Amino acid sequence: MPVAASKYNLRPFVEAPLSSSSTKPIELEAIDLSLYKEGPENLPVRKQLAAQIERSLSTYGFITVTNHGFPVEKLDFLKSLAQGILETPLEEQKKYLAGALKSDLEDRSVSVGAERGSGFKPKGYWSMRNGVEDSIIHYNFNNMQQSLFFDTEKNNYPDIVKDHLDDVAEYYRFLHGDVLRKLSNLSDLVLELPEGYLYENYFKVIDGDIPGSGGGAGRFMLYEGMDPEDSKKVENTWLRGHSDSGGFTFITSQPILSLQIRDYYTGEWSYVGHTPNGLIVNIGDAMEFITGGYFKSSIHRVVGPLDDQKEYRRLVLIYFSKPNDTCIMDPEPLKSPKLERLGISKPKEWENINFRAWNEEKSRLFGKKKVNDTQSEEPKLVLLYGRLHERWHQAEADFSLEEAQKKFEVIRLDAA
Ligand SMILES: [Fe+2]
Repeated sequence: MPVAASKYNLRPFVEAPLSSSSTKPIELEAIDLSLYKEGPENLPVRKQLAAQIERSLSTYGFITVTNHGFPVEKLDFLKSLAQGILETPLEEQKKYLAGALKSDLEDRSVSVGAERGSGFKPKGYWSMRNGVEDSIIHYNFNNMQQSLFFDTEKNNYPDIVKDHLDDVAEYYRFLHGDVLRKLSNLSDLVLELPEGYLYENYFKVIDGDIPGSGGGAGRFMLYEGMDPEDSKKVENTWLRGHSDSGGFTFITSQPILSLQIRDYYTGEWSYVGHTPNGLIVNIGDAMEFITGGYFKSSIHRVVGPLDDQKEYRRLVLIYFSKPNDTCIMDPEPLKSPKLERLGISKPKEWENINFRAWNEEKSRLFGKKKVNDTQSEEPKLVLLYGRLHERWHQAEADFSLEEAQKKFEVIRLDAA
């Protein structure tokens, strides 16, 4: 496997020790995926797993997955590869940028930006509040589920990436074809749909047909320590609260206490704890819309580490799985008996849109000054196709667009 390891001086990534803090992380449902077995005789076990994910996805929008089946030693190798890639000097990164050098310099009419483009996002791309810029380096991969991923003519990869495309594709294809497929099938059981329905209609991969195919973006992401003065200005929030735009997001669990979920109902923040060799999985907006709001695309953020983990860097490998571009962002096509029984249907203010429309507009708002440079923890809310671009207030008792517009500064898309 690591034939080129010595060429790139790859070395193991050193994880932080567990924090000795008494802070109690949130207790998420842990799905043991080794219990998932195909076949009618195993349906009762799958139903139990489905009940477990239903409890978590309809409340927190997060679960943890253990025993996913991807070999630990391969994952360790990918972490050392990620470290090698993300330590590329800035001058070299500039030859392989995912977007411009700053979000606000991005000409979005020609570029999808560093959120969605393939390549490096150097530190300082995103604008945060009080004039601070982010301290995160990431490298994005696109089209790993497609043969196009291996086309080194059409893709501008640095050598270290070019030499490891097989390793990268193996991981992301496993997550999509195996873990995502199983979670989709369990979601079918929750929604009382035939098993396979969600995967077939939203996530199935069709090689060569990118818009018609399910897929996703891979991201290697390294959080370096933020300047203490800057950290103060953002009240120790290193990545602002946001919801993901896609289907299911998969994040490698790591020991630094830093990822926090905002409770959908109370607005309280809680830490997500560490599950060794586990994955943290959360729902994105697309899954929230497809289920008419039954699954929660919760706001989450990353805060600076506690004192006993401050000397360590936070490295995560992320997979943002996405449904195909043309699928509809509301529950009507599903005809789910479960949602019907719960009285959940498409809210009248939601415009009829597909995933592409949502994803394109939402991602370009993430690091823009006009939306994010505010005095409070929340960005300005942007009205996007009859929905607010981030899911901060949906569960409030009197939540409606009309009420939201009275209480918060909501800007229109064309003004963002
Ligand atoms: Fe996220």
